[in-house]
Amino acid sequence: MQKLIVDGGNPLFGEISVQTAKNAALPIIAACILTDDTVVIEKCPRLKDIDAMIDIMRHLGCSAEFNGDDLSICCRDVSLNVINSDLTGKLRSSIFILGSILSRCRRAYISHPGGCEIGLRPIDLHIAGLKGLSVKIADDCGVICCDGSEMKSAVVNLDFASVGATENLMMAGALLDGETVIVNAAREPEIVDLAEFINAMGGKVSGAGGSIIKVNGVKKLHGCRYRPMPDRICAGTYLTAAAAAGGCVTVKNIVPEHIFGITERLKKTGARLSVRRDSVRITSSARPRAIHKLETNVYPAFPTDMQPQFCAVLALASGSSVIVENLFENRFGYTSELSKMGATITVKDRVAVVRGVPKLRGAVLKASDLRGGAALVVAAMAAEGRSVIYGVEHIDRGYEYIEKAMTELGAKIRRVNTDDL
Ligand code: UD1
Repeated sequence: MQKLIVDGGNPLFGEISVQTAKNAALPIIAACILTDDTVVIEKCPRLKDIDAMIDIMRHLGCSAEFNGDDLSICCRDVSLNVINSDLTGKLRSSIFILGSILSRCRRAYISHPGGCEIGLRPIDLHIAGLKGLSVKIADDCGVICCDGSEMKSAVVNLDFASVGATENLMMAGALLDGETVIVNAAREPEIVDLAEFINAMGGKVSGAGGSIIKVNGVKKLHGCRYRPMPDRICAGTYLTAAAAAGGCVTVKNIVPEHIFGITERLKKTGARLSVRRDSVRITSSARPRAIHKLETNVYPAFPTDMQPQFCAVLALASGSSVIVENLFENRFGYTSELSKMGATITVKDRVAVVRGVPKLRGAVLKASDLRGGAALVVAAMAAEGRSVIYGVEHIDRGYEYIEKAMTELGAKIRRVNTDDL
């Protein structure tokens, strides 16, 4: 087990390049099942969630090997092994592999992914969507058994624009005869990336990025090389770190429009931002200002995956902010850890009231989910004194060695084994 030791209070300076997006790479890896050729995913991030997806692929008989930064996947042989709860428990979003297995094999078996620290994570939309494509689905003691022998394309209307359900249906339709139409599709940039990946394999997906996606099934898809998009949430995390700790940081390898919802809110805190073609510079020299109301919602609104990191900034703001979490019902768990640092945050259901304090102080903290863990790192870098952060394995799910990136910017942060001093 490992922990992070952070000596806070140092402003950040310098440049940093963001990694490839975890949330784009995960469905793209799943979509490799759609072809029996080799696919090379360039600059695939080295993360715990990616490892968990690779484990699932290997369990299904696919080969997956890193050559330097590139991940080569070959799904020539796919076996219909049950994806058991040991595997789905490590990666809740494993459910969106159903669509690609069904498209390729017309059968699939996966254990129910269950809930997680940030909420129940139901899968009803995935199930309803696949049923809309005539997949027969039964629950056998927690294993979701899918029979797609009579699968056919259709118009499927999602009750909510779920990212994972949209991705599942895009993959499910890729090899079906005819046109699958997804109505009320999610519009996140990762959806566009998945569509571009399927098209790079010879697929016919149009409309991604809008609310109606059309997937015209093809007989066969071929291998390709593909570099997924940059990680907009990592970019946002580095920007919030600079907003909280102060300094001047240039974040490179970004798509500015992907992070517009983040940069606009950072401007409201008083940080100065200068956006270029593929980079953004943040300068923060004064105490952040409160944001009257910060509300998460589906893209292009403010992303739920940035809510905890923003809370760390607002904990230090002059004035009070209200944060409304509209996507996950249990995403304020990290606030009790921020309170140990002197933050004043009151949570009721999906609303947090943050009364900014002039200083946070270092404390012994425990991360219990990915983005909540990132918020603790941001807060610890801005705080006075030393913080020790346990639960680093949650942070490693989504950030490639977060301490290296922050150290490059001048933060005093190191990783040690929990037994070491
Ligand atoms: C994806 C992202 C995650 C991000 C989330 C919202 C990946 C790997 N993960 O997760 O980082 O926080 O989008 O932007 O891309 N819901 C249901 N029934 C379902 C599916 C979802 O009620 O069948 C609900 C969820 O509980 C949640 C909301 O819909 O309240 C959004 O979930 P969804 O868009 O599906 O998120 P994920 O794809 O799981």
